[in-house]
Amino acid sequence: MQTNTHEIADRIFRLSTCVPDAAPGGFTFNQFLIDADEPLLFHTGPRRMFPLVSAAIARILPLKRLRWITFGHVEADECGAMNEFLAAAPNAEVAHGANGCMVSLEDLCDRPPRRLADGEVIDLGGKMIRHIDTPHVPHNWEARVIFEETTRSLFCGDLFTQTGDGPALTDGDLVGPALAAERMFHATALSAATGSTIRRLATLKPEMLALMHGSSTRTRCGESLLELATAYDELTALH
Ligand SMILES: [Fe+2]
Ligand SMILES: [Fe+2]
Repeated sequence: MQTNTHEIADRIFRLSTCVPDAAPGGFTFNQFLIDADEPLLFHTGPRRMFPLVSAAIARILPLKRLRWITFGHVEADECGAMNEFLAAAPNAEVAHGANGCMVSLEDLCDRPPRRLADGEVIDLGGKMIRHIDTPHVPHNWEARVIFEETTRSLFCGDLFTQTGDGPALTDGDLVGPALAAERMFHATALSAATGSTIRRLATLKPEMLALMHGSSTRTRCGESLLELATAYDELTALH
Protein backbone atom coordinates (compact mmCIF):
# COMPACT_ATOMS: atom_id res chain seq x y z
CA MET A 1 0.00 0.00 0.00
CA GLN A 2 1.07 3.56 -0.61
CA THR A 3 -0.30 6.95 0.35
CA ASN A 4 -0.82 9.34 -2.57
CA THR A 5 -0.91 13.08 -1.98
CA HIS A 6 -2.69 15.74 -4.05
CA GLU A 7 -3.24 19.46 -3.39
CA ILE A 8 -6.99 19.67 -4.13
CA ALA A 9 -7.39 23.35 -3.20
CA ASP A 10 -5.01 26.10 -2.12
CA ARG A 11 -2.84 24.47 0.59
CA ILE A 12 -5.41 21.73 1.18
CA PHE A 13 -3.92 18.28 0.66
CA ARG A 14 -5.71 14.98 0.21
CA LEU A 15 -3.73 11.97 1.46
CA SER A 16 -5.21 8.79 0.03
CA THR A 17 -4.42 5.15 0.74
CA CYS A 18 -6.31 2.45 -1.15
CA VAL A 19 -6.82 -0.84 0.70
CA PRO A 20 -7.43 -3.39 -2.09
CA ASP A 21 -9.22 -6.03 0.02
CA ALA A 22 -11.57 -3.69 1.90
CA ALA A 23 -14.21 -3.69 -0.87
CA PRO A 24 -14.58 -4.86 -4.47
CA GLY A 25 -12.34 -2.57 -6.52
CA GLY A 26 -10.60 -1.36 -3.36
CA PHE A 27 -11.55 1.24 -0.76
CA THR A 28 -9.77 4.52 -0.07
CA PHE A 29 -8.98 5.95 3.34
CA ASN A 30 -8.41 9.69 2.93
CA GLN A 31 -7.04 12.27 5.31
CA PHE A 32 -6.98 16.01 4.66
CA LEU A 33 -4.16 18.29 5.72
CA ILE A 34 -4.95 22.01 5.82
CA ASP A 35 -1.71 23.93 5.78
CA ALA A 36 -1.97 27.25 7.57
CA ASP A 37 -0.21 29.04 10.43
CA GLU A 38 -1.86 26.39 12.64
CA PRO A 39 -1.95 23.24 10.45
CA LEU A 40 -5.01 21.03 10.88
CA LEU A 41 -5.49 17.35 10.07
CA PHE A 42 -8.99 15.99 9.38
CA HIS A 43 -8.97 12.19 10.00
CA THR A 44 -5.88 10.48 11.35
CA GLY A 45 -6.34 7.16 9.59
CA PRO A 46 -6.31 3.88 11.51
CA ARG A 47 -3.56 3.38 14.08
CA ARG A 48 -1.83 0.80 11.90
CA MET A 49 -1.74 3.26 9.00
CA PHE A 50 0.14 5.86 11.08
CA PRO A 51 3.56 5.11 9.50
CA LEU A 52 2.18 5.70 5.98
CA VAL A 53 0.06 8.75 6.81
CA SER A 54 2.66 10.46 9.01
CA ALA A 55 5.33 9.97 6.33
CA ALA A 56 3.01 11.55 3.74
CA ILE A 57 2.40 14.56 6.01
CA ALA A 58 6.12 14.90 6.72
CA ARG A 59 6.73 15.35 2.99
CA ILE A 60 4.54 18.51 3.20
CA LEU A 61 5.38 19.95 6.62
CA PRO A 62 7.18 18.85 9.79
CA LEU A 63 4.86 16.64 11.84
CA LYS A 64 5.65 18.60 14.99
CA ARG A 65 3.98 21.69 13.42
CA LEU A 66 0.54 20.03 13.48
CA ARG A 67 -1.70 22.14 15.73
CA TRP A 68 -5.16 20.56 15.38
CA ILE A 69 -6.17 16.91 15.14
CA THR A 70 -9.78 16.60 13.97
CA PHE A 71 -12.11 13.95 12.54
CA GLY A 72 -15.78 13.31 11.87
CA HIS A 73 -16.57 10.76 14.54
CA VAL A 74 -15.00 8.17 16.83
CA GLU A 75 -14.08 5.14 14.74
CA ALA A 76 -10.65 3.65 14.00
CA ASP A 77 -10.37 4.98 10.44
CA GLU A 78 -11.32 8.49 11.58
CA CYS A 79 -9.21 8.74 14.73
CA GLY A 80 -7.34 5.47 15.46
CA ALA A 81 -3.95 7.22 15.28
CA MET A 82 -4.89 10.36 17.27
CA ASN A 83 -2.62 9.54 20.21
CA GLU A 84 0.28 8.75 17.87
CA PHE A 85 -0.20 12.22 16.34
CA LEU A 86 -0.49 13.85 19.78
CA ALA A 87 2.83 12.23 20.69
CA ALA A 88 4.49 13.35 17.43
CA ALA A 89 3.22 16.94 17.64
CA PRO A 90 3.65 18.42 21.13
CA ASN A 91 1.45 21.49 20.46
CA ALA A 92 -1.37 19.54 18.83
CA GLU A 93 -4.85 19.32 20.35
CA VAL A 94 -7.78 17.17 19.39
CA ALA A 95 -10.80 19.42 18.69
CA HIS A 96 -14.31 17.99 18.50
CA GLY A 97 -17.90 18.78 19.39
CA ALA A 98 -18.85 18.90 23.06
CA ASN A 99 -20.76 15.63 22.88
CA GLY A 100 -17.85 13.63 21.44
CA CYS A 101 -15.50 15.10 24.02
CA MET A 102 -17.83 14.30 26.90
CA VAL A 103 -18.83 10.79 25.76
CA SER A 104 -15.48 9.48 24.47
CA LEU A 105 -12.57 11.77 23.79
CA GLU A 106 -11.90 13.15 27.28
CA ASP A 107 -11.21 9.52 28.18
CA LEU A 108 -9.56 8.28 24.98
CA CYS A 109 -7.22 11.19 24.21
CA ASP A 110 -3.78 11.26 25.83
CA ARG A 111 -4.16 15.07 26.19
CA PRO A 112 -7.45 16.83 26.94
CA PRO A 113 -9.43 17.67 23.78
CA ARG A 114 -10.79 21.13 22.97
CA ARG A 115 -14.60 21.22 23.14
CA LEU A 116 -16.20 23.11 20.24
CA ALA A 117 -19.70 24.59 20.20
CA ASP A 118 -21.89 24.00 17.15
CA GLY A 119 -20.92 26.64 14.58
CA GLU A 120 -17.72 27.66 16.37
CA VAL A 121 -14.88 28.78 14.10
CA ILE A 122 -11.16 28.15 14.63
CA ASP A 123 -8.94 30.74 12.94
CA LEU A 124 -5.97 28.74 11.65
CA GLY A 125 -4.21 31.84 10.29
CA GLY A 126 -4.89 31.74 6.55
CA LYS A 127 -7.78 29.28 6.81
CA MET A 128 -10.98 29.33 8.90
CA ILE A 129 -12.54 26.08 10.12
CA ARG A 130 -16.18 26.01 11.18
CA HIS A 131 -17.29 23.05 13.32
CA ILE A 132 -20.80 21.74 12.59
CA ASP A 133 -22.54 19.09 14.69
CA THR A 134 -24.40 16.47 12.62
CA PRO A 135 -25.53 13.94 15.27
CA HIS A 136 -26.01 10.44 13.79
CA VAL A 137 -25.26 11.71 10.25
CA PRO A 138 -23.92 9.65 8.65
CA HIS A 139 -23.46 7.65 11.86
CA ASN A 140 -22.49 8.04 15.52
CA TRP A 141 -23.95 10.38 18.11
CA GLU A 142 -20.84 12.61 18.11
CA ALA A 143 -20.77 12.97 14.30
CA ARG A 144 -19.69 16.32 12.87
CA VAL A 145 -18.27 17.87 9.72
CA ILE A 146 -15.98 20.83 9.21
CA PHE A 147 -16.26 23.66 6.68
CA GLU A 148 -13.26 25.71 5.54
CA GLU A 149 -14.67 29.15 4.90
CA THR A 150 -12.01 30.77 2.67
CA THR A 151 -12.21 27.98 0.05
CA ARG A 152 -15.82 26.96 0.89
CA SER A 153 -14.65 23.35 1.33
CA LEU A 154 -16.94 20.93 3.14
CA PHE A 155 -15.09 18.01 4.69
CA CYS A 156 -17.86 15.42 4.52
CA GLY A 157 -16.29 12.51 6.39
CA ASP A 158 -18.20 9.34 5.51
CA LEU A 159 -20.97 11.15 3.60
CA PHE A 160 -20.95 10.03 -0.07
CA THR A 161 -18.74 7.02 0.78
CA GLN A 162 -17.94 5.12 -2.41
CA THR A 163 -15.77 2.11 -3.25
CA GLY A 164 -12.92 2.03 -5.78
CA ASP A 165 -9.72 4.00 -6.18
CA GLY A 166 -10.79 7.02 -8.24
CA PRO A 167 -8.88 10.23 -8.91
CA ALA A 168 -8.31 12.84 -6.20
CA LEU A 169 -10.89 15.10 -7.87
CA THR A 170 -13.78 14.04 -10.09
CA ASP A 171 -16.48 15.78 -12.12
CA GLY A 172 -18.54 12.59 -12.05
CA ASP A 173 -21.73 11.79 -10.16
CA LEU A 174 -21.25 11.25 -6.41
CA VAL A 175 -24.76 10.20 -5.47
CA GLY A 176 -25.11 7.02 -7.55
CA PRO A 177 -21.83 5.50 -6.28
CA ALA A 178 -22.73 6.55 -2.70
CA LEU A 179 -26.09 4.77 -2.90
CA ALA A 180 -24.41 1.66 -4.34
CA ALA A 181 -22.02 1.64 -1.38
CA GLU A 182 -24.92 2.19 1.00
CA ARG A 183 -26.66 -0.90 -0.40
CA MET A 184 -23.43 -2.84 0.22
CA PHE A 185 -22.47 -1.54 3.69
CA HIS A 186 -25.67 -0.13 5.26
CA ALA A 187 -23.36 2.33 7.03
CA THR A 188 -25.77 5.24 7.39
CA ALA A 189 -27.82 5.59 10.57
CA LEU A 190 -31.03 6.39 8.71
CA SER A 191 -33.46 8.48 10.75
CA ALA A 192 -36.12 11.11 10.23
CA ALA A 193 -33.37 13.75 10.65
CA THR A 194 -30.89 12.37 8.08
CA GLY A 195 -32.22 14.24 5.06
CA SER A 196 -32.76 17.55 6.86
CA THR A 197 -29.26 17.48 8.38
CA ILE A 198 -27.71 16.99 4.93
CA ARG A 199 -29.98 19.71 3.48
CA ARG A 200 -28.66 22.10 6.15
CA LEU A 201 -25.12 21.45 4.88
CA ALA A 202 -26.21 22.48 1.37
CA THR A 203 -27.09 25.95 2.74
CA LEU A 204 -23.36 26.50 3.33
CA LYS A 205 -23.05 26.69 -0.48
CA PRO A 206 -19.87 24.57 -0.56
CA GLU A 207 -17.59 24.78 -3.57
CA MET A 208 -15.71 21.59 -2.73
CA LEU A 209 -16.83 18.32 -1.16
CA ALA A 210 -13.89 16.42 0.37
CA LEU A 211 -14.77 12.74 0.88
CA MET A 212 -13.13 10.38 3.32
CA HIS A 213 -13.79 7.36 1.12
CA GLY A 214 -13.79 8.29 -2.57
CA SER A 215 -12.94 11.14 -4.91
CA SER A 216 -13.47 14.75 -3.90
CA THR A 217 -15.28 17.16 -6.20
CA ARG A 218 -15.53 20.85 -7.01
CA THR A 219 -18.63 20.56 -9.18
CA ARG A 220 -22.37 20.40 -8.32
CA CYS A 221 -21.62 20.38 -4.57
CA GLY A 222 -24.91 21.80 -3.27
CA GLU A 223 -26.95 19.85 -5.81
CA SER A 224 -25.26 16.58 -4.82
CA LEU A 225 -26.02 17.20 -1.13
CA LEU A 226 -29.69 17.87 -1.94
CA GLU A 227 -29.90 14.74 -4.12
CA LEU A 228 -28.31 12.65 -1.35
CA ALA A 229 -30.77 14.08 1.20
CA THR A 230 -33.72 13.17 -1.02
CA ALA A 231 -32.37 9.65 -1.59
CA TYR A 232 -31.98 9.12 2.16
CA ASP A 233 -35.49 10.48 2.80
CA GLU A 234 -36.77 7.84 0.37
CA LEU A 235 -34.75 5.07 2.02
CA THR A 236 -35.98 6.18 5.46
CA ALA A 237 -39.58 6.03 4.28
CA LEU A 238 -39.02 2.43 3.14
CA HIS A 239 -37.76 1.35 6.58
FE1 LIG B 1 -17.51 6.13 9.97
FE1 LIG C 1 -14.72 6.58 7.52
